[in-house]
Amino acid sequence: RAEVVINGSSSPAVVDRSNESIKHNIQPASAKWRHNQTLSLRIRKQILKFLDAEKDISVLKGTLKPGDIIHYIFDRDSTMNVSQNLYDLLPRTSPLKNKHFGTCAIVGNSGVLLNSGCGPEIDTHSFVIRCNLAPVQEYARDVGLKTDLVTMNPSVIQRAFEDLVNATWREKLLQRLHSLNGSILWIPAFMARGGKERVEWVNELILKHRVNVRTAYPSLRLLHAVRGYWLTNKVHIKRPTTGLLMYTLATRFCNQIYLYGFWPFPLDQNQNPVKYHYYDSLKYGYTSQASPHTMPLEFKALKSLHEQGALKLTVGQCD
Ligand code: CTP
Repeated sequence: RAEVVINGSSSPAVVDRSNESIKHNIQPASAKWRHNQTLSLRIRKQILKFLDAEKDISVLKGTLKPGDIIHYIFDRDSTMNVSQNLYDLLPRTSPLKNKHFGTCAIVGNSGVLLNSGCGPEIDTHSFVIRCNLAPVQEYARDVGLKTDLVTMNPSVIQRAFEDLVNATWREKLLQRLHSLNGSILWIPAFMARGGKERVEWVNELILKHRVNVRTAYPSLRLLHAVRGYWLTNKVHIKRPTTGLLMYTLATRFCNQIYLYGFWPFPLDQNQNPVKYHYYDSLKYGYTSQASPHTMPLEFKALKSLHEQGALKLTVGQCD
């Protein structure tokens, strides 16, 4: 019985930043990659021992009431009250209840997507997951348009929508939310205390303007469960990134998983510069030591899963 080896070494990988993009060359290349169904099913089963995406994707209405106090997952001493708006937006049943898809795309936000021409391919997948309300319209050729689930860390309201300082930014966010048109908006509201007001502003906008989105707020145990799974597999992450969270959840309801826009390195495989995000001017320092993420380490794990056929990583152009 073949083992799932996600990280070959037993100690945390040491990241040599001098030559990372060369080290991370992806093999097999697109045409030779084959899906390993047995391995995918084994991974799903293993992950199910830690979490169940169907349940953990969102807290449900029945489990909370307005006024309940929640301790933030990463700031245990800080609390928030469940507001009436948040309560109103909690789903009654899991948005993933009994869902199964043949192929799913998870679209990360790396600048490696620019000039990839991957948009049409991404849009062919049955379920498309995107991260942090990243814009699509202006980049459709490279990132596609189809969106079935999109995440929104509260920090996005600050970094992409100027903390809604004036009517123009509020309108911009509102238009982006309207464009989601029935898809799932996944808001990690209970992670860190900094996001309190931002989550409330978004909840208010959605209710006031009757925005057609299905809101979901991940369970309180999700993050630790996801981290637990990866730690057990010797991937020593500090705090999983949104992209890794999405992959971990997707193993539950996707038969084949295709990753695009995962490339946390400043040079591509041909040594050309790569933007940190495809759509803004954030710099790589953003993932510095101070950041809780360990993206290159996550990437190494995902690359290993690609090599074994459990997922497919695309880091260059689409055919
Ligand atoms: N990503 C990547 N390489 C990059 C940028 C992003 O692999 N250069 C992947 C990561 O998995 C990341 C996801 O794409 O989680 C979405 O990108 P981003 O919006 O930057 O997500 P986070 O860093 O998780 O969000 P935050 O900055 O709010 O912590």
